[in-house]
Amino acid sequence: MGKMKKHIFLTALAALVLLFSFSCQDISSKKESVKKQKTEIDKKVSALVSRMTLEEKVGQMTQITLDKFYKETLDTTMLHEYIVKYGLGSILNSHHDKSGMTVALSMQEWRDLQTMIQRYAGESRLKIPILYGIDAIHGVTYLKGATLFPQNIALAAARDPKVVHAAAKITAKEVRACGIRWNFDPVLGVGRQPLWSRFEETFGEDSYLVGELGEAVIRGYEEDGLDKPTAVASCMKHYLGYTVPLTGKDRTPAYIPEIVLRQIFLPPYKVAVDAGASTAMINSGSINGIPVHASKYLITDVLKNELGFTGLVVTDWEDIIALYKQHHVAKDNKEAVMMAVNAGIDMSMVPYDLSFYHDLIALVQEGKVPMSRIDDAVSRILRLKFRLGLFDNPFPEDGTEEYYEKPEYKEVALQAAREAITLLKNDTLQGKPVLPLSKKMRLLVAGPGANSRATLNGSWSYSWQGQDESLYPESVRTIRQAIEEKIGKNKVINIAPEGFQNVSPQQINKLRKFASQADAIVLCLGENSYAESPGSIDDLTLPQDQLRLAEAAAKTGKPVILVLTEGRPRIINGIVPSMNGILLAYRPGNLGAPAIADILFGEVNPSGRLPYTYPRYTGNLMTYDMPVRAARYYRPQWPFGFGLSYTSFEITSLKADKDTLQAGDTLLVTAVVKNSGSCDGEVALDLFVRDMTATVAPPMRKLRKFTRVALKTGETKKVRFTLTDEDWSFIDSTLEPRIEAGKMAVLLGNKEAVFYLKN
Ligand code: BGC
Repeated sequence: MGKMKKHIFLTALAALVLLFSFSCQDISSKKESVKKQKTEIDKKVSALVSRMTLEEKVGQMTQITLDKFYKETLDTTMLHEYIVKYGLGSILNSHHDKSGMTVALSMQEWRDLQTMIQRYAGESRLKIPILYGIDAIHGVTYLKGATLFPQNIALAAARDPKVVHAAAKITAKEVRACGIRWNFDPVLGVGRQPLWSRFEETFGEDSYLVGELGEAVIRGYEEDGLDKPTAVASCMKHYLGYTVPLTGKDRTPAYIPEIVLRQIFLPPYKVAVDAGASTAMINSGSINGIPVHASKYLITDVLKNELGFTGLVVTDWEDIIALYKQHHVAKDNKEAVMMAVNAGIDMSMVPYDLSFYHDLIALVQEGKVPMSRIDDAVSRILRLKFRLGLFDNPFPEDGTEEYYEKPEYKEVALQAAREAITLLKNDTLQGKPVLPLSKKMRLLVAGPGANSRATLNGSWSYSWQGQDESLYPESVRTIRQAIEEKIGKNKVINIAPEGFQNVSPQQINKLRKFASQADAIVLCLGENSYAESPGSIDDLTLPQDQLRLAEAAAKTGKPVILVLTEGRPRIINGIVPSMNGILLAYRPGNLGAPAIADILFGEVNPSGRLPYTYPRYTGNLMTYDMPVRAARYYRPQWPFGFGLSYTSFEITSLKADKDTLQAGDTLLVTAVVKNSGSCDGEVALDLFVRDMTATVAPPMRKLRKFTRVALKTGETKKVRFTLTDEDWSFIDSTLEPRIEAGKMAVLLGNKEAVFYLKN
């Protein structure tokens, strides 16, 4: 090395060391101040708890829905009474209109409401502020004009924690713009039951993917520090095992062996606790016959003690009442309250009355619930209120109005939708792929999804069910409108049946008639919006009328592009062969339609990958990570991780840097990815590990890492993944994590590299 070069090198090295020590100092001083803040808060909490009466403590543990206080209008006397006399701890949700639909409010209405509520709280003896909670599931559900992002199931297809994080940050800001500081999100259930009506709220069937994206959401909500006006408290939910009801119906029992609970369902919660999630909501269902709300084992032993969760545990909707009315494990409300609170519940989403309040006071007086349990619950609640800065200023902060509805939010929503949408089929017709379409074409845009905003968004979209089209902002484009904006209204013929269940013979005839005037058909099928139990179905097959419409479209002889907007994989095996192109858009959100149009016309190259196994048969609902013994039956329509592109990618030189490693070693896996096709694109890469032999039958393969890479035509990039013990550990028959010696393989695309673990 020449003198000059050496000098530059040493200076750079010194700068680097300095930078490193600064950033280390930074991190350690940040940690110090967090610790200090924690100690200070703990002191304030115990001082406050020591001044509280039993009634005041139980009041803090009570959560009531806003609707309770609405007759025709807001009953401020009742609201005041609940807050001041009963010392209510928390309020949630929006209220209902006359038709029973949950109402979306404007930002100002939300702020005014919060201001009034906190003023009342200021009149209570101890002036403890109210913790208001809301569902902002893919954007702020009950805020007029809020930005709605793709549902989690779509975000999972994007394999991009950065975009998930960005969407969460925006959501946090819009929640804060309403003066609210607690969001009942994210859903960390692993979606392994496609019939289930809340499948779209999950990040899909793989627990690693769920954990990684869940962590991105929690960081997005909380990392700025809960006392900052850009943050909200997250709520990991619905702990545990809600996503796999045996019947497929919402809120019905699940049967999950403990080994599976620990292998598949618990890990995302561990990740979330470590990421600092400040609250948790409990699953309304039961596991192996025990309602989770009554399970001391799952709530206290596992969540609080084993995972070390120090935050607040809230019930789901009316779930203590459900212990006696639905599950029949308690004889009355009082017994149910005793079970739940002793199991470790800190706050009850009652949500309509004071039954919890009165029964819990009596139970403590009778010695059936220890005061230590009450103090623990109240401390968890108050700690959060202090951390959120509610004691300093409980009102909507000045300046947070600015966080509402910014143009850049739409860009994030658009990017997320573009990355998520998954190309499942692209036939070559007369030597050319049918997609992308030419803008010169005349298109027949048909099917119930073509003119629906609800189908793009699904649940929790300006109303609980998301079905009211009139609530969506004018700026939200339908698929038809987005296509018209690309090629001109005059080139679009539109016949969109109104419903997703029934398509009349007249509409089918219309489709036949108009097809002759078009160069191709864009057929928009799928599901209307639904949320929770109303979305339960008995048949996973797409409704027969929609399939008939597809058959009629295919018979016209025109190329047919199927665009699916659906929250769960509806079975379509009968029509797959006759559709020339298939684009799965999931629930792509408010900007979903422009993203679909971008992909249809080739302005964006599709890159989404299935976050679940798309089943081919109703009698074959398997996940990709079943043990090898089941492998020969894994015959999906499309497997987990499937997704096409307009270009082609080649993976070569997949290498593990060691062929033998011991516990504690890391393994660096590298590969070269090349865009070998004729257009630029992004590729989402899934890296799997396969354990060849283990004492617990190993899965066919297991996702361990993923990444996204952008490549211009002809470009090549090296990708790297660092694997550690965690990536080959599994839960053994004693329910402990374990690593076993033997042969393993890493799999990327169609390449495989073998390595050995030594004892
Ligand atoms: C849902 C929760 C939601 C709660 C409050 C329940 O019905 O299961 O996910 O957070 O309502 O709206």
